[in-house]
Amino acid sequence: MTALNVKLPGLELKNPVMPASGTFGFGDDASSKMYSLDRLGAVVVKTTTLEERLGNPNPKIGLVRDGAMNAVGLQNPGVEAVIAKKLPALRAKYPHLPIVGSVGGSSVEDTLPWRKN
Ligand SMILES: Cc1cc2nc3c(=O)[nH]c(=O)nc-3n(C[C@H](O)[C@H](O)[C@H](O)COP(=O)(O)O)c2cc1C
Repeated sequence: MTALNVKLPGLELKNPVMPASGTFGFGDDASSKMYSLDRLGAVVVKTTTLEERLGNPNPKIGLVRDGAMNAVGLQNPGVEAVIAKKLPALRAKYPHLPIVGSVGGSSVEDTLPWRKN
């Protein structure tokens, strides 16, 4: 059997499959319930911003001739809630799954607290 594991600096994945940020939410949305996320090499969680973002008004997803287009608007509960609730819940459900963060902001300054910690 072909070995699919990949070594990244400080992180080894059992396979290279890592979904695009946000497509599995924080591991608690509908797509996350379709199959075990343990099948992935890692999950990339939804982009997290300093403050909560409500995202764009509905409809956030629309069908076009050849597929779908989306404009979710980086909807997320903000970094404090992600650290306090979302990540512990994801880790409790998947103790061994590598979790990759995605950080967003409206300015360079928004990312400074992340850099300090
Ligand atoms: C439901 C949904 C939520 C998404 N949320 C985010 C997000 O939080 N952050 C982000 O950078 N991209 C987000 N995206 C965009 C995806 O990461 C990805 O760039 C997009 O699906 C295009 O992927 P492709 O270039 O492989 O076609 C989201 C996409 C979908 C469908």
